[in-house]
Amino acid sequence: MIGTDVSKAAELLRHGELVAIPTETVYGLAANGLNPEAVAKIFKAKDRPSFNPLILHCRNMDQVKSLVEEVPNELLQFLHNQWPGPITVILSRKHIVPDLVTAGLDTVAVRIPRHPLTQKLLHQLDFPLAAPSANPFGYVSPTAAQHVEDSLGDKVSYILDGGPCEVGIESTIIRFADEVIVHRLGGYDPDELKNHFNRVSFKLIKNTKPLSPGQLDKHYSPNKRLVALEDFPASGETESCALLSFSKLRDPRFHKIIPLSESGNLMEASTNLFRLLRETETWEENIVYVEFVPEIGLGRAINDRLKRAMK
Ligand code: TXA
Ligand code: MG
Repeated sequence: MIGTDVSKAAELLRHGELVAIPTETVYGLAANGLNPEAVAKIFKAKDRPSFNPLILHCRNMDQVKSLVEEVPNELLQFLHNQWPGPITVILSRKHIVPDLVTAGLDTVAVRIPRHPLTQKLLHQLDFPLAAPSANPFGYVSPTAAQHVEDSLGDKVSYILDGGPCEVGIESTIIRFADEVIVHRLGGYDPDELKNHFNRVSFKLIKNTKPLSPGQLDKHYSPNKRLVALEDFPASGETESCALLSFSKLRDPRFHKIIPLSESGNLMEASTNLFRLLRETETWEENIVYVEFVPEIGLGRAINDRLKRAMK
């Protein structure tokens, strides 16, 4: 059921139920993050392998501190300005965090999400919310309540409707040691990190361990044949095909062209990305060619998701 009743969502979560929640990035499939039985329901509903750890969503820094050993000062100052927002940090965990949340790692991923409804919800609860994106494992992340209803509607007790997600792609995941390490590209532009920290490096992690060969990077994939525009056959395509373009509106090779952002704006492209990837499934064309966006700022995260959607 979809609605905007925060108290109802809180009550269900207190009883160990699953509730989909809006965040500024994507919708999350939430459960009481300190209750292993409730967390286990997330893995079951998503069909997600349990070696893939979850993010704990917190209401404020005090709650974060109750879950982790230490937040280094430099990082604390940075987060003070960025949270609530689309950044997740990986920190050493306290024992209070269940093994199922961290997949047995001695670290835990935490963030403070920005969406007002979810902020309100978190303030009604005395526990953090474990929440992966609210999509079946491997499928496109949801950026609207209806997306959750479409693919997980029968598996969640309630979907808290906060409208379309502002950012549209998942949070940027970082770790702080002697330097800042970016583990996942996302809704926070990693170039901005260079304004705050002396050293920033990238160690992008694969989202999943392979369950079987070939499955390694598959993620965010709609049920549609997506092909990179650069692989358009030189002799011309014989089937009717569409183009998911960054901003281009005309090209005679395509039956239909849908722009990620008509004004060529990367923020707008990121907001629209997952909705349009889902919509390709309803297009009549058998093949959808995909144009990459400029590899700058948020563009890197968008291209990362586009590449994974094509696998
Ligand atoms: O924007 C987001 O981050 C959304 C919203 C709902 O908050 N959540 C999200 O969760 O994208 P999920 O589960 O789809 O992705 C979480 C990622 C996974 O790739 C997981 O491997 C990584 O975070 N992760 C979680 N805990 C970790 C840890 N302790 N060490 C390394 N990676 C971790
Ligand atoms: Mg996900």
